[in-house]
Amino acid sequence: MVAAAVTVVTVWLVYRYAAVRYGVEGLSTLNKSLATSTLFLLGIVLLLGPLSRLFTLFDHALKYRKELGVLTFFTGAAHVYLSMFPLARRGPLGFYAAQPLSAYAGLTGFVIMVILFLLSNATIERALGPKLWWKLQYWGARLAFIAVAFHMIVLKYTGWGAWFADKSSLPPLAILATVFAAFVLVVRLSELFGPRAARIVTQLSFLAATGFTAWLFI
Ligand code: HEM
Repeated sequence: MVAAAVTVVTVWLVYRYAAVRYGVEGLSTLNKSLATSTLFLLGIVLLLGPLSRLFTLFDHALKYRKELGVLTFFTGAAHVYLSMFPLARRGPLGFYAAQPLSAYAGLTGFVIMVILFLLSNATIERALGPKLWWKLQYWGARLAFIAVAFHMIVLKYTGWGAWFADKSSLPPLAILATVFAAFVLVVRLSELFGPRAARIVTQLSFLAATGFTAWLFI
């Protein structure tokens, strides 16, 4: 229930932001919201591990990681379905022909999420053994996150120069999601240098990401 509530609230908040930012409501705005929420939620899934290891404050949140991971599969699947069918002006494969680099990266992320979802049941977990099962989940989630972030950045970065030049509207969703993705990446990499360094890097990068995000709105 908690994971479902977090997912619904995220999709709703991102939808409201997108509706104001892009001035349209409806299926295409819902699609943007589902896409961006998937990236945010997958990032939270990846952050819960290091944050609970580094700060006791996050201990209680760790138990929602598995369910949240499963729910990101559904928001991601809804985005892929909407992009390939109801919203596809040039048919289900039109986006793959027009933007192959971005589309195949998105597809790679989605295929990994499908595999992780299929592995997410007690029988398979028992058959693989908890060690291998968690290893597959960790690496799968990391690779899916990188593929999806790449999909978004390659697709959206061309508009960013013009936005930064005048900053006359709210920041594009993809810029906000990129700042968050960079934060997730830094936190995950910081653990390579041991817990003490990771705690400092996590706190500093949190301040940097928050400060930069605030500046985007000024
Ligand atoms: C689960 C895997 C995927 C995730 C998490 C994901 C995430 C994203 C994100 C964050 C955006 C940027 C939204 C925005 O700022 O407007 C986006 C855009 C888009 N994605 Fe995906 N994507 C995935 C897979 C795919 C696949 C396989 C396709 C293939 C059809 C696809 C098609 C699109 C399209 C057409 C857009 C542009 C939507 C728009 O501008 O309104 N995505 N995606």
